[in-house]
Amino acid sequence: MKYRTLGKTELKVSVVGVGTWQFGGAWGKDFTQDEVDAILDKAQEVGINLLDTAECYGHHLSENFIGNYVERRGSRDKWIIATKFGHSALDKNNSSHWAADEVRTQLEESLKSLRTDYIDLYQFHSGPDSVFDNDELWTMLDKQVQAGKIRNLGISIGSNDNLHQTAAASKINAKAIQVVYNRLDTTPENRVFPSCIEQDLGVLARVPLASGYLSGKYKPGAVFAANDVRSNHDKELTASRLRRVEEISRTEVPANVNMAEWALAWCLKHPAVTCVIPGCKSPEQVETNARAASLDLVADNHPQSVS
Ligand SMILES: NC(=O)c1ccc[n+]([C@@H]2O[C@H](COP(=O)([O-])OP(=O)(O)OC[C@H]3O[C@@H](n4cnc5c(N)ncnc54)[C@H](OP(=O)(O)O)[C@@H]3O)[C@@H](O)[C@H]2O)c1
Repeated sequence: MKYRTLGKTELKVSVVGVGTWQFGGAWGKDFTQDEVDAILDKAQEVGINLLDTAECYGHHLSENFIGNYVERRGSRDKWIIATKFGHSALDKNNSSHWAADEVRTQLEESLKSLRTDYIDLYQFHSGPDSVFDNDELWTMLDKQVQAGKIRNLGISIGSNDNLHQTAAASKINAKAIQVVYNRLDTTPENRVFPSCIEQDLGVLARVPLASGYLSGKYKPGAVFAANDVRSNHDKELTASRLRRVEEISRTEVPANVNMAEWALAWCLKHPAVTCVIPGCKSPEQVETNARAASLDLVADNHPQSVS
């Protein structure tokens, strides 16, 4: 595994993390605690120390699985846990709740679910600019940083071209941006990454496998179960993306290199990108994804490399 410093934070993150939206049950499969334990044990074994979760992945369910695991293993200090705010767990429709007092309640729920007294990276969860521009919210969060409940603030931008929120990061003391970035969608290279580099922000590249399509295992026309979030994707767009994946597989992926590994390493070569957080459903996927760190594309002289 390789490690990089996440922007101006004190966090030394593994370049490959684990995204845990999947643990909430929206990806065609409900997880048991034993299955989550096996995934996280494998992650630790291969040197991964970064977990990305959120309040609304199964209404704190993903956080609860992680908290249960970390508490039983007594390994809180070994993990960098990133979670998010903006949606209420009390509300089964997962609607947005951005008022300062509502987020304060969500923070306590996340701390309880994660069985911890601090969150390493607390991220604004892809809300619109109208709720982002709220001094009361950031003042409240700054107090939680002072109180030690939050180590660092971050922004998970919804549109991957959201320069408004990215450019305001340093002003509200956010030190990392989470953004969709992968071989099929390079939009952040235009405006978001230059702003991140200028402000020395850490970057978590999310959806780095384009929802699994860049693993190369799906063919145009692939059908997903009704309880898999990908069944909601536009069918024509998905088919054209999968045709593009076939072409990339033929023309860009070196022979004998696993396409998922290659796709993650491809993200990691950009100087703005600190780490990738592929969503994982099995220990085998974790193991494959971790190998991306060893591919030649992932240079040792990246600006954020930890020697
Ligand atoms: N707004 C936000 O803040 C936001 C939004 C989206 C995601 N996220 C975060 O980003 C993380 C990653 O994004 P994502 O999960 O949406 O998309 P992703 O990482 O691009 O794709 C995840 C899917 O890829 C497949 N996969 C993973 N590793 C594989 C491997 N080695 N070989 C083959 N297939 C593999 C798995 O699905 P199958 O096995 O079923 O194909 C998995 O469910 C999420 O888990 C979440 O933590 C945040």
